[in-house]
Amino acid sequence: MDIEKFIRKIPKAELHLHIEGSFQPELMFEIAQRNRINIKYKSVEELRKAYQFNCLQDFLDIYYTGAGVLQTEQDFYDLTMAYFCECEKENILFAEIMFDPQTHTKRGIAFATVIQGIQQAREDSKEKLGIDSLLIMSYLRHLSEADAFETLEQSLPYKHLIHSVGLDSSEKGNPPSKFRRVFEASAKEGYKVVAHAGEEGDASYVWEAINELEIARIDHGNNSLKDEKLIAEIIKRDLALTVCPLSNLELQVVKDLTSHPIRTMLQKGLKATVNSDDPAYFGGYLTENFLQIQKALELTKDEIVTLVKNGFQYSFAEDTLKRAYLEKVDDFVENFTE
Ligand code: ADE
Ligand code: ZN
Repeated sequence: MDIEKFIRKIPKAELHLHIEGSFQPELMFEIAQRNRINIKYKSVEELRKAYQFNCLQDFLDIYYTGAGVLQTEQDFYDLTMAYFCECEKENILFAEIMFDPQTHTKRGIAFATVIQGIQQAREDSKEKLGIDSLLIMSYLRHLSEADAFETLEQSLPYKHLIHSVGLDSSEKGNPPSKFRRVFEASAKEGYKVVAHAGEEGDASYVWEAINELEIARIDHGNNSLKDEKLIAEIIKRDLALTVCPLSNLELQVVKDLTSHPIRTMLQKGLKATVNSDDPAYFGGYLTENFLQIQKALELTKDEIVTLVKNGFQYSFAEDTLKRAYLEKVDDFVENFTE
């Protein structure tokens, strides 16, 4: 059984991808040049060398700096289209894309510029590549509740383009409860809600995210495993975890991939999915995440199929689309030959 070929070819969904985290150095330099912005690194190679992180904050500092060269609708279009082109190569049929408006509005870029660029790429990728997607607008948790409310307000003219809201950035010291009211208001506006929780923060962050924000899915959630009651609660509520193996490795959430908890999650009955988080920074897109975690843990073909199917099953795709995707996966598995 050629498991590598199997992983490369199987139809996949991605549920946890920050579009700003898909910004490859080559494109960053190109956009910086056309916007006449100076990057403090002299070359793509020098920039890549700086991608050594001891923790989430190390990464976020460089990630926000990189996103700082994005200025025009075309920039956001190019960034998003580059990700969709990668999806096509990797047989990713459905992608839920997070974007951080505050990273840009804080620099004086209009909300409209950001969303219109991303939206045009979504439409083109649907038409030209057949890839479906939806958008998750993430609030930056190191900023204030008032800031998040302002962002919610700015999003309202584009509500028809945004499916969900999320919560990302520096987790420790910025618990979900800080955003309880803005999540409540977001849900009232019709947004579904998700949040990063239990990536660096302890299990209490996950408890708060499910009880106070009433999230529909947990981004990361690794530290849930330290609390048996929490595991039972997550299973009872049927909440999936969007797990990001290479991100966990690069941000030192796990010390190596052989000690990654994704198999344990499945064995305990948690609905884990595989995702890339910030592929330009963590050494690989979705397929690479699958390949490396399979190798490290010697995941079986059946475990890979479970992870892939969880991705579609726990996506926010409409039911008919979801069923069609799951059938495609079944067909693929049945007919796969080496
Ligand atoms: N923003 C982009 N990637 C993130 C991550 N892994 N955790 C929190 N915020 C992020
Ligand atoms: Zn993330």
